[in-house]
Amino acid sequence: MKSTSIITFTTIACAASAFVIPQARDASSTSIDDTVVLNYALTLEYLESAFYSEALNNFTEEDFTNDGLPQWARGRFEQIAAHEQAHVQLLSGALGANATQACNYSFPYTSPSSFAALSQLLEGVGVSAYSGAAQYVTNKDYLTTAAVILSTEARHAAWVAGPVNKENPWSGPFDTPLGLSTVYTLASQFITSCPSSNPSLPPVKAFPALTFADASPGQAANVTADGVTTEGQYVAFFSGLSTTFVQVQNGQVIVPNKTSLYAVLTNSNSTADDSTITAGVAVLQFPFSSDGTSSTSTGESSMNVRV
Ligand SMILES: *[C@@H]1O[C@H](CO)[C@@H](O)[C@H](O)[C@H]1NC(C)=O
Ligand SMILES: *[C@@H]1O[C@H](CO)[C@@H](O)[C@H](O)[C@H]1NC(C)=O
Ligand SMILES: *[C@@H]1O[C@H](CO)[C@@H](O)[C@H](O)[C@H]1NC(C)=O
Ligand SMILES: *[C@@H]1O[C@H](CO)[C@@H](O)[C@H](O)[C@H]1NC(C)=O
Ligand SMILES: *[C@@H]1O[C@H](CO)[C@@H](O)[C@H](O)[C@H]1NC(C)=O
Ligand SMILES: *[C@@H]1O[C@H](CO)[C@@H](O)[C@H](O)[C@H]1NC(C)=O
Repeated sequence: MKSTSIITFTTIACAASAFVIPQARDASSTSIDDTVVLNYALTLEYLESAFYSEALNNFTEEDFTNDGLPQWARGRFEQIAAHEQAHVQLLSGALGANATQACNYSFPYTSPSSFAALSQLLEGVGVSAYSGAAQYVTNKDYLTTAAVILSTEARHAAWVAGPVNKENPWSGPFDTPLGLSTVYTLASQFITSCPSSNPSLPPVKAFPALTFADASPGQAANVTADGVTTEGQYVAFFSGLSTTFVQVQNGQVIVPNKTSLYAVLTNSNSTADDSTITAGVAVLQFPFSSDGTSSTSTGESSMNVRV
């Protein structure tokens, strides 16, 4: 066996070209039928709906402006709350007796501005969830339903990221589709308990947490995973339709030079799906101000949401 004494970072940038076939980011797709996909979507919509209604109960318009948010922000968040409620009703109606029920949740925001940051994350994940699940929908009516919800979530995501949070309203020319388990991993950290009668969502599962310390674009960052050895495994960075695999060496990876990334740990250097993901997902969003400049060179830390 050939051995190498020089430690290098392995980077396989998988096609940055404009025309890439979307890769499934799930492993066994056979058991994912329309009922599973719609219940998966409904699970996320219940979560978003609870998130907004709770925060709007917690904070007045004065709380918003005192915390530096625009005067008009709370009114728009009320509209978003109503949209999420309407999504819940539409999906529940389509599922009928198969509909899963709402759970109890706990959200880690402490102020209107940290609520707005979490809103940006959740709306972005919503877009990634619908785009990643689209391929499993077989009924064309449901596909239209999913498309009109997806585009509305994308408007929410752009509005909260841009006008409210003064960051980049989009992640690039392509949104980033995520696999069902990857999204569920993100969602499940906010779910405290669910009715025991809720259907399970085979083959959806949650992965152990993946954490980056002090990540910034194009720089080395320490990466750790709950109960999982990262050394020698790969971090797959998702950005749009491309995936970049970087091997963990000395506990570190070089983070791709992008403003918005999802990261999972994999035991493969070429496949990132349920069969190879061992931890994650981490969300890396780097400051990109509304005047169109990346402020990453200042070394500002990422919004690194632990999952
Ligand atoms: C409930 O789920 C079963 C199994 O997927 C399906 O055959 C049935 O049509 C569903 N009912 C509704 C109302 O969607
Ligand atoms: C918001 O309201 C929920 C539910 O009443 C409560 O558990 C949570 O602590 C509140 N959060 C803040 C930051 O006020
Ligand atoms: C939610 O929490 C309440 C209060 O702790 C509890 O009574 C209820 O059973 C919980 N519901 C679910 C769906 O877990
Ligand atoms: C990264 O890991 C190195 C070596 O373990 C440690 O010295 C350094 O403090 C870590 N950096 C951060 C930001 O955690
Ligand atoms: C990242 O890319 C931008 C241009 O897109 C460039 O200005 C910057 O120097 C790059 N940073 C690193 C660390 O490579
Ligand atoms: C990826 O992994 C395979 C199987 O372990 C190995 O043969 C190949 O050399 C690796 N490729 C790179 C670029 O590291």
